[in-house]
Amino acid sequence: MSANRPAAVVVLAAGEGTRMKSATPKVLHAICGRSLVGHVVAASRELDPEHLVVVVGHAREKVVAHLAETDPEVRTAVQYEQNGTGHAVRMGLEALGDSGIVLDGTVVVVCGDTPLLTGETLRKLSDAHAGDGNAVTVLTAEVPDSTGYGRIVRDEATGAVTAIVEHKDATDAQRAIREINSGVFAFDARLLVDALGKVRTDNSQGEEYLTDVLGILREAGHRVGAAVAGDHREILGINNRVQLAEARKLLNERLLHTAMMSGVTVVDPASTFVDVTVTFGQDVLVHPGTQLLGTTHLAQDAEVGPNSRLKDTTVGEGAVVDNTVADGAVIGAGANVGPYAYLRPGTRLGAKSKAGAYVEMKNAVIGEGTKVPHLSYVGDATIGEYTNIGAASVFVNYDGVNKHHTTIGSHCRTGSDNMFVAPVTIGDGAYTAAGSVITKDVPPGSLAVARGQQRNIEGWVARKRPGSAAAQAASAAGRDGRDESPETDGGQ
Ligand code: UD1
Ligand code: CA
Repeated sequence: MSANRPAAVVVLAAGEGTRMKSATPKVLHAICGRSLVGHVVAASRELDPEHLVVVVGHAREKVVAHLAETDPEVRTAVQYEQNGTGHAVRMGLEALGDSGIVLDGTVVVVCGDTPLLTGETLRKLSDAHAGDGNAVTVLTAEVPDSTGYGRIVRDEATGAVTAIVEHKDATDAQRAIREINSGVFAFDARLLVDALGKVRTDNSQGEEYLTDVLGILREAGHRVGAAVAGDHREILGINNRVQLAEARKLLNERLLHTAMMSGVTVVDPASTFVDVTVTFGQDVLVHPGTQLLGTTHLAQDAEVGPNSRLKDTTVGEGAVVDNTVADGAVIGAGANVGPYAYLRPGTRLGAKSKAGAYVEMKNAVIGEGTKVPHLSYVGDATIGEYTNIGAASVFVNYDGVNKHHTTIGSHCRTGSDNMFVAPVTIGDGAYTAAGSVITKDVPPGSLAVARGQQRNIEGWVARKRPGSAAAQAASAAGRDGRDESPETDGGQ
């Protein structure tokens, strides 16, 4: 645990986010597998605060429900009317006070719409705050375009921060300042509570500005400090969907950078997309056009892509997954999947097994070395080891009302174009004939044949299609069939 564990982190997430033009509250929009507020909460957790409170307002039912799901330890405070960032922090602190919590130490304030902010930067801010003995420390950044941001006004002689002036309230000279307020602060808890009581609303927006706390504390003779963020892109606040896409790109680049530095080959980072929760073993190879989502894990030497989307899927050591969509699947070591496979939840492929071209699987457990190489649907099935399923087979699992299970043993050879009408069981070492509709259990070691017998009706073309190209071809082959018996049976 850190020496300066903050007493609380307050996350501001009450605003509507009108510019998103969305039925979903802004902070619930997601990038790289996490909501905007989820990213901020996760970064805040790295400070290990005693209390973490998210101030909610607009569409608060949705935001509260989302937080309860993603981080049940988070407290929420309601800001019924969005009267400004200062007011929002006041609501957060009052909610803690109402729960009997007396804050002593540092309070960190962050905005719920800055998903790129890292725990590391928050740590630097909080360390600088504690180290310098400040009443308040603001995280600032030099940005190429400071339009819309609060400007950091510094004393010309000493360089000390004297005030933050909102864009709308700034003079032309102040608008030229490129150092801006990130919206992230560390405060002394007691001084913050005191100063928030003094914030007025005589500004262009008629709001309680959190930023005014700086001037108030400074005038009361307290130390005001600033920590400059190393990378201004980290404090990017999301206001519209263009910025959402920009943040997604930056975060994705950051995640891929980390993966590559730890020994993953990403052939084309620009067309590879990962969620924050994805993990990699060493020497993984990711081809272009690949999306890795949720809790997906690629074990050592796995090779994925091109053009694959894996969600909550584990790819075992050295497995190869090509042009595949998988959701909730477990792919064993050395297995071979695709191209054009679709693995749905509950698919578990054993080591060195195969789900080949145009194969769909769902709730299917496939044993070691078993192959389903071509054009098949395997649903609700258990297949043993080293079995081969013929091309174009369907596990007929649904009777229109219920789903049923098919069990196939080890070392079986099932013919092409089989229908396994579940529930049905095929014993170890059994064979089935091509084109069979298997409705009855097959004992171990048997051959099951379940198809119509072939009849060849000789001379049929000459009689029924006289003069046709087919009839001429048959005649040229010396088999117009006129003199022969009309029908013979083909045999199995
Ligand atoms: C704020 C800062 C500005 C800074 C910028 C950084 C103030 C007055 N201004 O401006 O200096 O450069 O952030 O992005 O603090 N919120 C509430 N309740 C409210 C108002 C806002 O919870 O009543 C939340 C919003 O949901 C948002 C955050 O506070 O997450 C920032 O609010 P926003 O309206 O975006 O502030 P800016 O005008 O961008
Ligand atoms: Ca903002």
